[in-house]
Amino acid sequence: MSRACNFSAGPAALPEAVLLKAQAEFLEWRDARASVMEISHRGPAFMGLAGEIEARLRRVAAIPDDFAVLFMAGGATAQFALAPMNLLHGKARAAFVLTGNWGQKAFAESARFAPTDLWASSEDRGFDRIPELDPERLHPDTAYVHITSNETIAGVQFHDWPDTGGIPLVVDMSSDILSRPVDWSRIGMAYAGAQKNIGPSGLTLVVIRKDWLQRCEQAQVPRVFNYKLQAENDSMLNTPNTFAWYMVGLVLEWLEESGGLEAMAVRNREKAARLYQAIDTSAFYHNRVLPEYRSWMNVPFHLADETRNAAFLQQAEQAGLLALKGHRISGGMRASIYNAMGLDCVEKLVAFMQRFEQEAGT
Ligand SMILES: Cc1ncc(COP(=O)(O)O)c(C=O)c1O
Repeated sequence: MSRACNFSAGPAALPEAVLLKAQAEFLEWRDARASVMEISHRGPAFMGLAGEIEARLRRVAAIPDDFAVLFMAGGATAQFALAPMNLLHGKARAAFVLTGNWGQKAFAESARFAPTDLWASSEDRGFDRIPELDPERLHPDTAYVHITSNETIAGVQFHDWPDTGGIPLVVDMSSDILSRPVDWSRIGMAYAGAQKNIGPSGLTLVVIRKDWLQRCEQAQVPRVFNYKLQAENDSMLNTPNTFAWYMVGLVLEWLEESGGLEAMAVRNREKAARLYQAIDTSAFYHNRVLPEYRSWMNVPFHLADETRNAAFLQQAEQAGLLALKGHRISGGMRASIYNAMGLDCVEKLVAFMQRFEQEAGT
């Protein structure tokens, strides 16, 4: 058996070169005479590695010096609560744009802890777009606008930051981080679970404006979830997931060797265009998202005849195309085509889809 094309939405495929390097270094990492996961996170070897990884991440993603970079636990889900708990005090409010189910979850969690407004939602359109946004309608005490830059289930992506009338963004970048260059000038904080584009699960990246850290002084949160304390302690207030952290380092190395985020963006756009073109030119498959808002990372699609779903999935798996089943909320199919997914796998999927359509006799 050989490795298949894995379209999993997350945990997702990692670059093969990364897995091979991790395998080669598994028993003995550098000159530690032990595995990287067997050494102290506070020792000079791991602290050195953590420093290298942060420097590489800053270089790759062009993160400005006035942002802190944190690695935390609890996934992006913890950040749904931690952002309002750390950042909103007194009259300060959050405003949300909802373009899919993850934004809905973040919104509901934020409302449990702080004043939270629904600025706009495309739920009434079945999340097929980014809704119209009028900055005049934002409450004057709005401290940040929360968006989900890529909705992993709905397949809706912001290709530009919205006009918020100057209010900073808090962005859930879980499913499109490191997939394209980022304009940090409009961002107050970004967060992402690692398990799609950065590495394995179990680590969450938080990038936050340093001047926002003062706000965390008043936060009623456990110390390990306080952004300011984590920044002061190099994200090592407690024992972090050192192996996942190391894997993130390998992914970043691979990203740099592959040409960085500009090159990734070109590749990702090409892969997505190929798949959407195959869907749009067929009467057998369809995608419900308006073209200008479609995701380059997660491509949901439906078969015209949904009774064929099970056969599609079974035959796809036999053809070496894994994890194409859509999320249970949306049904149908979904191809997640993150950074590690090559155009060759997308071409293989397109060829399979065309074959399946012909055999279905439509
Ligand atoms: C956009 C988005 N936000 C948040 C989450 C939740 O992430 P986690 O499982 O790391 O808490 C996911 C998971 O798929 C996601 O896709």
